[in-house]
Amino acid sequence: VTKHVLDGVDVLSPGSLQYTEVDGVGVCVGRTASGDLFAIEDECPHEAASLSDGELIGDEVECPLHASRFDVRTGEVRCLPARVPARTFPVELVDGVAWVNV
Ligand code: FES
Repeated sequence: VTKHVLDGVDVLSPGSLQYTEVDGVGVCVGRTASGDLFAIEDECPHEAASLSDGELIGDEVECPLHASRFDVRTGEVRCLPARVPARTFPVELVDGVAWVNV
């Protein structure tokens, strides 16, 4: 499924996170400080907190509940207590509009 999630690239400033839903799947979309867009599963694989409510630190998103960190490009766990990686999704800009593939 491909879904248009943002009306313009300016909506996401560097360092920001935004929740969206694609086909029933919660997705956390964001932009790193270096300007790269990413899309990662919103539900933390540890105990289901919303990663969109967390904080982006470099290329890692920190869960607001127990501070696990995940690499936003690969979903890899960078900091415990989570042990299971988060899913990530391709996101691309088409004519200034972001699309997420779930
Ligand atoms: S719910 Fe995210 S680290 Fe526990």
